[in-house]
Amino acid sequence: MCGIVGAVTSRQAQAILLAGLHRLEYRGYDSAGMAIVGENGIERRRTVGNVQELDDALMAAPLAGVTGIAHTRWATHGVPAVSNAHPHVAGDGRIALVHNGIIENYERLREELKQGGCRFESDTDSEVIAHLLDECLRRNPEMELRDAVREAARRLEGAFALAVISANDPSRIVAMRVGSPLVVGLGIGENFVASDVPALRPVTDRFLILEEGDLVELTAAGITVWDFQDETAVRTTLRITTDTGDADRGNYRHYMHKEIHEQPQTVRDALEGRVGRARVLEPAFGVNASAVLDGTRAVTIAACGTSYYTGCVARYWIEELAGIPCNVEIASEFRYRKFVVPDGSLFVTISQSGETADTLAALRIAQETGFEHSLTLCNVPVSSLVRESELAFMLHAGTEVAVASTKATTAQFVALMLLTILLARRAGLTAEREAELVAALRQLPEVVAQALALEPRIRALAEQFMDCHHALFLGRGLQYPVALEGALKLKEISYIHAEGYPAGELKHGPLALVDDDMPVVAVAPGNELVEKVRANLEEVRSRSGRLYVFADADSGIVEGEGVTVVEVPRVHELLAPIVYTIPLQLLAYHTAVLKGTDADRPRNLAKSVTVE
Ligand code: AGP
Repeated sequence: MCGIVGAVTSRQAQAILLAGLHRLEYRGYDSAGMAIVGENGIERRRTVGNVQELDDALMAAPLAGVTGIAHTRWATHGVPAVSNAHPHVAGDGRIALVHNGIIENYERLREELKQGGCRFESDTDSEVIAHLLDECLRRNPEMELRDAVREAARRLEGAFALAVISANDPSRIVAMRVGSPLVVGLGIGENFVASDVPALRPVTDRFLILEEGDLVELTAAGITVWDFQDETAVRTTLRITTDTGDADRGNYRHYMHKEIHEQPQTVRDALEGRVGRARVLEPAFGVNASAVLDGTRAVTIAACGTSYYTGCVARYWIEELAGIPCNVEIASEFRYRKFVVPDGSLFVTISQSGETADTLAALRIAQETGFEHSLTLCNVPVSSLVRESELAFMLHAGTEVAVASTKATTAQFVALMLLTILLARRAGLTAEREAELVAALRQLPEVVAQALALEPRIRALAEQFMDCHHALFLGRGLQYPVALEGALKLKEISYIHAEGYPAGELKHGPLALVDDDMPVVAVAPGNELVEKVRANLEEVRSRSGRLYVFADADSGIVEGEGVTVVEVPRVHELLAPIVYTIPLQLLAYHTAVLKGTDADRPRNLAKSVTVE
């Protein structure tokens, strides 16, 4: 997705900005650009394709100057094209701006600006901001650039991080964040701004993480931050010495453990720039997302393993909230069966790697057999699924090293809920209901952190699983796929045979397995199905089964002889699968550690399954 780098220094800025852009390539993008303010005012170069193209263009025609901004763009409004690439300029080239995020009300602003005589060069929402700034400065030529940014920002709805330079003052960059990340890098006699820490690691290890609504002015000599109320603010400086934060296990014994604990942040990252105050921002799904979703009458999801299970949760969401049929397919089955394509079908693939052979084959078959549109929810921008799908939504979970998927899984859930809301909006989801779901999504990182705090309890429980040969996982409704995923995690890394079942199926077979040797794990939030689940759990208890129940305080399920209850934090009912997945990840992890299996690299499995 889009990336920002800015530098105000006393050496040539071009090399710093280019190095930063190269380090942002992992986020995925389709064009790149740079603007530097030098002796002749602002000059810029923009190219479509790899940052290397920009590198070559700059090699042929370098930009001289010590203050500049640069950007990698992932198209949301307007196709990938030089004219749509950032930086955007306004005021006869006296202002240049880079922007991450989505401006929801850009069409209205664009019309107003056009009526005022403004001419647009691009199809982007971002260019609107450049012209708003220019309008402020024309009205009041004495106005400071930072005041113009503040004033323009008041008119913007949506999520944004931006950095601006002006030919009138080559000694500063003004930047601001609302709903999209932005960090300041502190140098000696130079300062930097970027959307992401890794972009600036070659030039500094001292960072200042801006808060929501912060506006910052950077000069080579110093930085000043103003908060949302326009009061000067002090932000803590952090020393970050790791390089990417991803490829490093830090103090964790296993990547899987680290990745489980990263989930409050990765859930936040999956949401960042994709939700406004009370709405999901539609272009987050790509340039043509609106048109594609307008025509969507049915959804088919294809995926493998854990990604398939997240898709299974989405079926409940989509059919309940959007009221359209949602079919979820195991990709390796789908590719070899005859199927009927419902009219107006959107084909959705889910994959952390983007290279899973069966999922890729399913996509290709779908494209040949009449599915009108395709969307992938994927964690790797430079992957086959992203390349070959019409629309792509990047999960932003960061590199997932452990074979067992954890943080990519919860990011997939977030992506699927955002997709559900967009489809549901077309089916009459009210603004109030959407605002309620967005508020619950915004609280999710905090609830995920609370779920992680259950770790000591779960570590102790793992001792009761380590010597088991089998385990059953039960859930109903939205929690049924969570039970499937819990069982997969346990078998995958601890080699304990585990099966997930809908709790109502117990008496149709698996109950025969239950005895005092068989741990039965149940996921049972206090929702409308909880009474049914309790009845199922009684069936286990009366056969001396050992029950381990993950439930919230509303479930009414209490500990007793043979029943262990782990109290999971309350969360919006529809988001419960995301939160209940976390303790099951921890259970699998600690069981594997106690058994001494390799939690990161389980036998016989690969991170990216590129063969059939
Ligand atoms: C998850 O823990 C597993 N390693 C596996 O089931 C995985 O989800 C599956 O192979 C699909 O991978 P993908 O998400 O990269 O397509």
